[in-house]
Amino acid sequence: MVPVGFLTHSVVFWLCGVTDCPCATLPHVQVPPFVLRQHYAKNKNLENRFLTGKHLEYSKWKRSPYKHQSNVICSFLRLDLLPAKNGEEVTKHFLQELLNILLAYISKSLNRSSKVLDFHHPHQLKEGLEGFSLELQDQPDNLEQLLVDCQDTLKYGVKTAHPCFFNQLSTGLDIIGLAGEWVTSTANTNIFTYEIAPVFILMEDIIFKKMHSIIGWSEKEGDGIFCPGGTMSNLYSVLLARYHFFPRVKTAGMLALPPLALLTSTHSHFSIKKSAAVLGIGSESVFLVKCDERGKMIPKELESSIRTAKSKGLVPFYVNATAGTTVYGAIDPLNDIADICERFGLWMHVDAAWGGGLLLSKRHRMKLQGIDRASSITWNPHKMMAVGKAADCLCGCQGLLQECNQLCAEYLFQPDKHYDVSYDTGDKSIQCGRHVDIFKLWLMWKAKGSEGFESQVNHCLENAEYLYYKLKSRKDFQLPEHSNVCFWYLPTSVRNMPPGPERDRELHMVAPKIKAKMMEEGMTMIGYQPLGDKVNFFRCVFSNPATQKEDVDFLLDEITRLGRELYS
Ligand SMILES: Cc1ncc(COP(=O)(O)O)c(C=O)c1O
Repeated sequence: MVPVGFLTHSVVFWLCGVTDCPCATLPHVQVPPFVLRQHYAKNKNLENRFLTGKHLEYSKWKRSPYKHQSNVICSFLRLDLLPAKNGEEVTKHFLQELLNILLAYISKSLNRSSKVLDFHHPHQLKEGLEGFSLELQDQPDNLEQLLVDCQDTLKYGVKTAHPCFFNQLSTGLDIIGLAGEWVTSTANTNIFTYEIAPVFILMEDIIFKKMHSIIGWSEKEGDGIFCPGGTMSNLYSVLLARYHFFPRVKTAGMLALPPLALLTSTHSHFSIKKSAAVLGIGSESVFLVKCDERGKMIPKELESSIRTAKSKGLVPFYVNATAGTTVYGAIDPLNDIADICERFGLWMHVDAAWGGGLLLSKRHRMKLQGIDRASSITWNPHKMMAVGKAADCLCGCQGLLQECNQLCAEYLFQPDKHYDVSYDTGDKSIQCGRHVDIFKLWLMWKAKGSEGFESQVNHCLENAEYLYYKLKSRKDFQLPEHSNVCFWYLPTSVRNMPPGPERDRELHMVAPKIKAKMMEEGMTMIGYQPLGDKVNFFRCVFSNPATQKEDVDFLLDEITRLGRELYS
């Protein structure tokens, strides 16, 4: 007999067999009277809160069948919800109430007269606001409290679907995409094997084929993996490139490598440097290639950086070209970069996390000419295509992802399964379990068709053009670049100063001051940053399909109003 004290629960389970497992009897546990007393005490507090009007929306709860049952059935151990015996009714009411909260939130998010955010400092949220406490207790909370918590969580968050939210590259809320996310969460499966996710795996396959044909790749060339974000995708691309040139690295590690060099532009996303750091290549091995005034990599500078890296005894192997830089939205000259990569025998990656969506538009896709020559591509449907987070994919060479990452875990990827195991795609990933990102994208594609995505992308670009022309006609704004629309607000005092360091110092403080006040008031939100020799400027990005020209006007009027108030 194995001493049970050393065993995990699952081993005990295996030794004893299913019927002996203590969990099997759980739904029939009797609730001790002291637990019921605590439960009533909590409900009483809540009742008081309802009566004081703090949560008026819940007054109707007192009449609901759910309310009645929650008083009768103790919430300790969640015996009131499925899978508890007879838990259907309570579960239904709980989820319906949650749905009401979510629907109210969605309507509010899309209502222009509601705030984008209700800002509080971290210490205020930590201390607790109007009964909303982040602290975890030893005692369970009842379902009513959990619903109030859900509502408060949304209340103190940021409404990224709001038409006046311009702060990030990924914004908006697509109702079909949301439905897809709900379905995914309900299925709560893992997308590593066909065995456990048959439909989702095939959907991934279909979507990849679609995206590859849009890129201009043949079926044979294409491959891919969905992963949690553009940063991860870019990491995969460096991993793949390194494996392509130095396959021994997978087993022998760093000893199999010469000192390596990566090349990317000064305007590229930080994830390229981070990938080099994570993969043991070192962030100092990343050569930052100079850009022109518009933020595009200069091909001649790329060539000279490759030569510099070589002269330092490093082995360049990877070039990242960005299609849609984070701040300016600039697109590197992909064909010129592809020519250089071919000449030097380097892996060309295109980080189209932001710009990939343009491929869906006949009007804008020529901006990404040459992308089909890349060895790997990052494309974030959760940015320009407004698919819920996270939906990102890396497209790369056929077969290489599998070769590079597979470890053939025998408990998961058995070769003798009774179906075509090439659909067990999970070993391409560096993860084990993987969230199903594909369904919301697939469902949205079904709902809109490629044409729907095309008009969505065109709409965002039209908003950007509109803002650009508005700014051009106003003298209290100045544009460093347009694509993503970047601009300074110039208070009269700054506008009247001669160009030079003193003016730059003053101008540098304008955007943070306006943004702080904007967040306190909460009616709109936009990002700012410095870049290179340019002091803090606003960056307006458009990916929210709900945003209209009137919202763009509102943003400009707000910046002007806040600017005047601060600098009058
Ligand atoms: C060009 C580019 N690449 C990669 C990323 C990283 O994407 P994620 O935030 O999904 O990791 C971003 C994010 O802004 C980006 O702009």
